[in-house]
Amino acid sequence: MGRKFFVGGNWKCNGTSEEVKKLVSTLNAGEVPSQDVVEVVVSPPFVFLPVVKDLLRPDFHIAAQNCWVKKGGAFTGEVSAEMLINLGIPWVILGHSERRLILNESNEFVGDKVAYALSKGLKVIACVGETLEQRESGSTMEVVAAQTKAIAERISNWADVVLAYEPVWAIGTGKVATPAQAQEVHFELRKWLQANTSPEVAATTRIIYGGSVSGANCKELATQPDVDGFLVGGASLKPEFIDIIKSAE
Ligand code: G3P
Repeated sequence: MGRKFFVGGNWKCNGTSEEVKKLVSTLNAGEVPSQDVVEVVVSPPFVFLPVVKDLLRPDFHIAAQNCWVKKGGAFTGEVSAEMLINLGIPWVILGHSERRLILNESNEFVGDKVAYALSKGLKVIACVGETLEQRESGSTMEVVAAQTKAIAERISNWADVVLAYEPVWAIGTGKVATPAQAQEVHFELRKWLQANTSPEVAATTRIIYGGSVSGANCKELATQPDVDGFLVGGASLKPEFIDIIKSAE
């Protein structure tokens, strides 16, 4: 397949400046495979982006956890794509389930955000995933296909997009998807891309898994043919994040 393994660390709304500096020094000391083997992107809260950018090792990259849907202006509290570019932040996470569910970000709104962020030169980790209720009702693929469709309808260039499948029922619960569950949805998502974008997009787009990934479960998940990496929450705040990066080997 030749897709470079991708490991994202989503720090969410966590940390003090002291804790962030300590975490960065732990990451900087970690022994990991070369950038030819794995692409590593960590995502601090907005307020720590400058200090992490200054201190982080050069072979790791940085993402914001969100950005606004259009050019900046009278949008109190928002951070624009242009600001992230100006700050030298190359990546952004968009469509995380915590924003979809808590802040009611619709599929269309997320699709518009992805399109705008790409148009301003950002690279995007675009998140999709179903709730436990949707999985138990058998509508997993219907849900993640609709989320992906709302993105695909608005963009033409997938080269700067990493698709993150994050089942909501596995996020922060310790209930990680089994390798078979993850592979099944990743395979179906790749099939969807093949049918609705192009065979080339389907073959080259990294589809990564998120939801209770840990140093203990990452290796088996990484062996799945359509799992191209991870988007890690809680474990990205710990030294075991280095072990998860090593699962790329
Ligand atoms: O974006 C990644 C996050 O949602 C996964 O969280 O704590 O289950 O690894 P966690």
